[in-house]
Amino acid sequence: MPRKIKNDFPIFRQAKTFKPWVYLDSAATSQKPKAVIEAEKDWYEKYNANIHRGIYHLSEQATELIEGVRQRVADFIGAESKRSIIFTSGTTDGINLVAQSWARHYLKQGDVVLLTEMEHHANLVPWQRLAEELKLELRFWPIDKQGRLELEGMDQLFREVKLLAITQVSNVLGTVNPLQKIIKAAHRKRIRVVVDGAQSVPHFAVNMKRLKADFFVFSAHKMLGPTGVGVVYINPELFSKVREYRLGGGMIREVSKKKASFADLPWRLEAGTLPLAQIFALREAIGYLEKVGMVRIMRHDQLLTKYAYQKLMQIKEVQIVGPAPKQRSGLISFVVDDIHPHDLATWLDQYHICVRAGHHCAMPLHQKLKLPATVRASFYIYNDKRDIDIFIRALRQIINKWRKQ
Ligand SMILES: Cc1ncc(COP(=O)(O)O)c(C=O)c1O
Repeated sequence: MPRKIKNDFPIFRQAKTFKPWVYLDSAATSQKPKAVIEAEKDWYEKYNANIHRGIYHLSEQATELIEGVRQRVADFIGAESKRSIIFTSGTTDGINLVAQSWARHYLKQGDVVLLTEMEHHANLVPWQRLAEELKLELRFWPIDKQGRLELEGMDQLFREVKLLAITQVSNVLGTVNPLQKIIKAAHRKRIRVVVDGAQSVPHFAVNMKRLKADFFVFSAHKMLGPTGVGVVYINPELFSKVREYRLGGGMIREVSKKKASFADLPWRLEAGTLPLAQIFALREAIGYLEKVGMVRIMRHDQLLTKYAYQKLMQIKEVQIVGPAPKQRSGLISFVVDDIHPHDLATWLDQYHICVRAGHHCAMPLHQKLKLPATVRASFYIYNDKRDIDIFIRALRQIINKWRKQ
């Protein structure tokens, strides 16, 4: 990827005296190109009005712009129609929405919900709460030594299951799960599938018509877009099965003192005022990703991951978790002998290198790995081999210093 891309991101172009960041934490949140930052400002300077409410021109224009973004999102993920696209505040909010507006009505006492051992807390804790309230059984799909789902015995695993909630890409292991195959097998057993797409949508093309997920959830802020916006895709087959769960303005058809009737989807699930400036700016994020090209982004991220993986493997104190580069997306988590991940991240920070250390909101996975924490380096379109070289050099220096102590 050309250096030019980095220049589109103001955070990397601060004053000459400022030592540039080596930003390796895009799995937590991505940086934003100027076009996205400008779009948010543009909204307030040129278009700001609430939507679906005013009958004056500015409000009608605002409505058209936001509904236009809904269509843009639908096209970006290959959804059948924009009615499938619900705006939320992020993946966490989206999974809670699926649990409360649909699963709560679909599941009943004794039903089995299957999760995987690699889920982020966002795709675990909402199901724990629902299981507690409805007396459901939670089961867990185990991972193998390389951090991949064990696919043999899938049919056995699916026995009695009514709902599978699964991530497309693990935010710790980097594993890309073969979702098309998994969803097909699940549907053969009449199991509904909820997908956490937080770590996949930013890195490679997804297509709802091909994937056929029942629900698919992701966040704008990990794909160059603003914070505060997320998306839930609902398969049209389930339109009649979701029930509004946040109640108030913007989602109703008619209200009397004692009763209310509700708008159609998608608005029925969008109570209150949406983060309009941020949704507007999401359009620019999608535009940017499309201009670069999702295939090119995927190849770039894979190339960097492979490069970093090989360099890390050459350091004998480093132990990487997760599969070989071929089966992973753009991130690598690892530990270094007896250096605590938090110390390592703090020392890397002294080199202006941003990595994440901790359990990355996946405590059960770390328990399985028998590690209290890991260090995670994640890559995106603005990273290059130079970033990795700086990171590896710093890591070697830190390890050498540690050894001499
Ligand atoms: C796999 C996965 N799921 C869910 C989330 C939660 O996303 P958000 O914080 O945007 O709600 C994250 C964020 O790190 C993630 O990596």
